[in-house]
Amino acid sequence: MKIRQEQKDDYKKVYEINKEAFNQEDESKLIERIRASEGFVPELSLVAEQDNEIVGHILFSKIKIIGEAEYESLALAPMSVVPKLQKQGIGGKLVTTGLEIAKKLGFKSVIVVGHEDYYPRFGFKKASLWSIKYPFEVPDEVFMVIELVEGSLEGKAGCVQYPKEFMEVE
Ligand SMILES: CC(C)(COP(=O)(O)OP(=O)(O)OC[C@H]1O[C@@H](n2cnc3c(N)ncnc32)[C@H](O)[C@@H]1OP(=O)(O)O)[C@@H](O)C(=O)NCCC(=O)NCCS
Repeated sequence: MKIRQEQKDDYKKVYEINKEAFNQEDESKLIERIRASEGFVPELSLVAEQDNEIVGHILFSKIKIIGEAEYESLALAPMSVVPKLQKQGIGGKLVTTGLEIAKKLGFKSVIVVGHEDYYPRFGFKKASLWSIKYPFEVPDEVFMVIELVEGSLEGKAGCVQYPKEFMEVE
Protein backbone atom coordinates (compact mmCIF):
# COMPACT_ATOMS: atom_id res chain seq x y z
CA MET A 1 0.00 0.00 0.00
CA LYS A 2 1.37 3.35 -1.07
CA ILE A 3 0.40 6.85 0.03
CA ARG A 4 1.01 9.54 -2.58
CA GLN A 5 -0.13 13.01 -3.53
CA GLU A 6 -3.40 13.13 -5.43
CA GLN A 7 -3.09 14.02 -9.12
CA LYS A 8 -5.72 15.54 -11.41
CA ASP A 9 -6.32 12.14 -13.00
CA ASP A 10 -7.40 10.85 -9.58
CA TYR A 11 -10.21 13.37 -9.02
CA LYS A 12 -12.96 11.17 -10.42
CA LYS A 13 -11.92 8.16 -8.39
CA VAL A 14 -11.56 10.25 -5.23
CA TYR A 15 -15.11 11.54 -5.78
CA GLU A 16 -16.34 7.97 -6.07
CA ILE A 17 -14.59 6.54 -3.02
CA ASN A 18 -15.79 9.40 -0.82
CA LYS A 19 -19.31 8.87 -2.08
CA GLU A 20 -19.04 5.19 -1.29
CA ALA A 21 -17.49 5.66 2.18
CA PHE A 22 -19.95 8.35 3.30
CA ASN A 23 -22.92 6.98 1.43
CA GLN A 24 -23.64 10.47 0.11
CA GLU A 25 -22.01 13.05 -2.13
CA ASP A 26 -21.63 15.98 0.31
CA GLU A 27 -18.00 15.20 1.15
CA SER A 28 -17.08 14.58 -2.51
CA LYS A 29 -18.49 18.00 -3.38
CA LEU A 30 -16.75 19.61 -0.42
CA ILE A 31 -13.42 18.25 -1.72
CA GLU A 32 -14.11 19.83 -5.12
CA ARG A 33 -14.82 23.20 -3.50
CA ILE A 34 -11.71 23.01 -1.32
CA ARG A 35 -9.51 22.17 -4.33
CA ALA A 36 -10.71 25.39 -5.95
CA SER A 37 -10.10 27.48 -2.82
CA GLU A 38 -7.12 29.36 -1.42
CA GLY A 39 -6.96 26.91 1.47
CA PHE A 40 -6.04 24.02 -0.81
CA VAL A 41 -2.60 22.52 -0.26
CA PRO A 42 -1.98 20.05 -3.13
CA GLU A 43 0.74 18.23 -1.15
CA LEU A 44 -1.86 17.48 1.52
CA SER A 45 -4.47 15.83 -0.66
CA LEU A 46 -3.28 12.26 -0.40
CA VAL A 47 -4.47 8.98 -1.82
CA ALA A 48 -3.84 5.44 -0.63
CA GLU A 49 -3.12 3.14 -3.52
CA GLN A 50 -3.19 -0.62 -3.49
CA ASP A 51 -2.52 -2.70 -6.62
CA ASN A 52 -2.78 0.51 -8.69
CA GLU A 53 -6.25 1.13 -7.30
CA ILE A 54 -7.12 4.16 -5.14
CA VAL A 55 -8.66 2.84 -1.94
CA GLY A 56 -8.50 5.84 0.38
CA HIS A 57 -8.14 9.61 0.48
CA ILE A 58 -7.39 12.32 3.03
CA LEU A 59 -7.42 16.08 2.74
CA PHE A 60 -5.88 18.73 4.97
CA SER A 61 -6.60 22.34 4.10
CA LYS A 62 -5.77 25.72 5.57
CA ILE A 63 -7.95 27.33 8.20
CA LYS A 64 -7.43 30.17 10.65
CA ILE A 65 -7.67 30.39 14.39
CA ILE A 66 -8.79 33.91 15.21
CA GLY A 67 -7.64 35.03 18.63
CA GLU A 68 -5.51 37.97 19.65
CA ALA A 69 -4.05 37.55 16.19
CA GLU A 70 -4.76 35.24 13.23
CA TYR A 71 -3.00 31.92 13.42
CA GLU A 72 -2.77 29.58 10.46
CA SER A 73 -3.65 25.96 11.03
CA LEU A 74 -4.96 23.03 9.02
CA ALA A 75 -8.24 21.15 9.12
CA LEU A 76 -8.29 17.43 8.49
CA ALA A 77 -11.44 16.77 6.48
CA PRO A 78 -12.66 14.68 4.96
CA MET A 79 -11.02 11.26 5.00
CA SER A 80 -12.31 8.04 3.55
CA VAL A 81 -11.38 4.42 2.98
CA VAL A 82 -13.44 2.15 0.74
CA PRO A 83 -15.78 0.14 2.98
CA LYS A 84 -14.41 -3.27 2.03
CA LEU A 85 -10.89 -2.29 3.14
CA GLN A 86 -11.69 -0.41 6.34
CA LYS A 87 -10.16 -1.37 9.70
CA GLN A 88 -6.90 -2.54 8.12
CA GLY A 89 -4.85 0.49 9.03
CA ILE A 90 -5.18 2.38 5.73
CA GLY A 91 -6.90 5.33 7.42
CA GLY A 92 -4.20 5.39 10.08
CA LYS A 93 -1.46 5.46 7.46
CA LEU A 94 -3.18 8.36 5.67
CA VAL A 95 -3.38 10.33 8.93
CA THR A 96 0.22 9.72 10.04
CA THR A 97 1.66 10.39 6.56
CA GLY A 98 -0.42 13.56 6.25
CA LEU A 99 0.73 14.83 9.64
CA GLU A 100 4.38 14.19 8.71
CA ILE A 101 4.05 16.07 5.42
CA ALA A 102 2.19 18.93 7.12
CA LYS A 103 5.00 19.27 9.63
CA LYS A 104 7.64 19.25 6.87
CA LEU A 105 5.70 21.97 5.05
CA GLY A 106 5.94 24.10 8.18
CA PHE A 107 2.40 23.87 9.51
CA LYS A 108 2.20 24.01 13.28
CA SER A 109 -1.12 22.36 14.11
CA VAL A 110 -4.10 20.45 12.71
CA ILE A 111 -7.70 20.50 13.86
CA VAL A 112 -10.28 17.80 13.34
CA VAL A 113 -13.91 17.22 14.18
CA GLY A 114 -14.39 13.51 14.46
CA HIS A 115 -14.61 10.39 16.50
CA GLU A 116 -13.15 10.78 19.96
CA ASP A 117 -12.05 7.11 19.97
CA TYR A 118 -10.14 7.39 16.72
CA TYR A 119 -8.08 10.58 16.48
CA PRO A 120 -6.45 10.56 19.97
CA ARG A 121 -4.35 7.56 18.89
CA PHE A 122 -2.48 9.93 16.55
CA GLY A 123 -1.94 12.50 19.29
CA PHE A 124 -5.04 14.68 18.87
CA LYS A 125 -6.35 16.21 22.08
CA LYS A 126 -9.44 18.19 22.95
CA ALA A 127 -9.12 21.69 21.50
CA SER A 128 -10.71 23.08 24.67
CA LEU A 129 -7.40 22.38 26.46
CA TRP A 130 -6.06 25.39 24.55
CA SER A 131 -9.37 27.30 24.69
CA ILE A 132 -9.74 26.91 20.96
CA LYS A 133 -13.38 27.13 20.00
CA TYR A 134 -15.36 25.73 17.12
CA PRO A 135 -17.63 28.12 15.17
CA PHE A 136 -20.63 25.83 15.67
CA GLU A 137 -22.07 23.89 18.58
CA VAL A 138 -20.25 20.54 18.81
CA PRO A 139 -19.62 18.23 21.76
CA ASP A 140 -16.35 19.12 23.49
CA GLU A 141 -14.76 15.71 22.91
CA VAL A 142 -15.19 15.64 19.11
CA PHE A 143 -13.34 18.88 18.40
CA MET A 144 -9.66 18.03 18.61
CA VAL A 145 -6.30 19.48 17.71
CA ILE A 146 -2.72 18.27 17.44
CA GLU A 147 0.41 20.37 17.83
CA LEU A 148 2.89 19.45 15.09
CA VAL A 149 5.44 21.55 16.93
CA GLU A 150 5.26 21.18 20.68
CA GLY A 151 4.04 24.31 22.41
CA SER A 152 2.95 25.94 19.16
CA LEU A 153 -0.61 26.46 20.40
CA GLU A 154 0.38 28.03 23.70
CA GLY A 155 -1.36 31.38 24.00
CA LYS A 156 -3.25 30.87 20.74
CA ALA A 157 -6.75 30.68 22.17
CA GLY A 158 -9.35 31.66 19.63
CA CYS A 159 -12.10 30.55 17.33
CA VAL A 160 -11.68 28.53 14.17
CA GLN A 161 -12.58 30.24 10.94
CA TYR A 162 -13.16 28.13 7.87
CA PRO A 163 -12.84 29.51 4.37
CA LYS A 164 -16.28 30.25 2.91
CA GLU A 165 -15.97 27.28 0.55
CA PHE A 166 -16.45 24.95 3.51
CA MET A 167 -19.85 26.40 4.22
CA GLU A 168 -21.44 26.53 0.81
CA VAL A 169 -24.34 24.20 0.41
CA GLU A 170 -25.42 23.28 -3.08
C1 LIG B 1 -12.84 6.70 9.26
C2 LIG B 1 -12.12 5.83 8.23
C3 LIG B 1 -11.47 6.73 7.18
C4 LIG B 1 -11.05 5.02 8.93
O1 LIG B 1 -10.32 4.27 7.98
P1 LIG B 1 -9.76 2.83 8.33
O2 LIG B 1 -8.81 2.43 7.26
O3 LIG B 1 -10.88 1.93 8.62
O4 LIG B 1 -8.97 3.17 9.67
P2 LIG B 1 -7.92 2.29 10.45
O5 LIG B 1 -7.91 0.90 9.92
O6 LIG B 1 -6.65 3.05 10.52
O7 LIG B 1 -8.52 2.34 11.91
C5 LIG B 1 -9.66 1.59 12.20
C6 LIG B 1 -10.16 2.06 13.54
O8 LIG B 1 -10.98 3.20 13.36
C7 LIG B 1 -12.18 3.03 14.06
N1 LIG B 1 -13.26 3.73 13.38
C8 LIG B 1 -13.48 3.82 12.08
N2 LIG B 1 -14.62 4.49 11.86
C9 LIG B 1 -15.08 4.84 13.08
C10 LIG B 1 -16.23 5.51 13.50
N3 LIG B 1 -17.14 5.95 12.63
N4 LIG B 1 -16.40 5.70 14.83
C11 LIG B 1 -15.48 5.23 15.71
N5 LIG B 1 -14.39 4.55 15.36
C12 LIG B 1 -14.20 4.36 14.05
C13 LIG B 1 -12.40 1.58 13.99
O9 LIG B 1 -13.27 1.16 15.01
C14 LIG B 1 -11.00 1.02 14.20
O10 LIG B 1 -10.70 1.01 15.58
P3 LIG B 1 -9.77 -0.11 16.22
O11 LIG B 1 -8.41 0.05 15.59
O12 LIG B 1 -9.78 0.24 17.67
O13 LIG B 1 -10.41 -1.38 15.86
C15 LIG B 1 -13.09 4.87 7.50
O14 LIG B 1 -13.70 4.07 8.46
C16 LIG B 1 -14.16 5.56 6.68
O15 LIG B 1 -13.97 5.85 5.50
N6 LIG B 1 -15.34 5.80 7.28
C17 LIG B 1 -16.45 6.44 6.59
C18 LIG B 1 -16.17 7.89 6.36
C19 LIG B 1 -15.87 8.64 7.64
O16 LIG B 1 -16.60 8.53 8.63
N7 LIG B 1 -14.78 9.44 7.65
C20 LIG B 1 -14.32 10.14 8.85
C21 LIG B 1 -14.94 11.44 8.99
S1 LIG B 1 -14.23 12.70 7.95
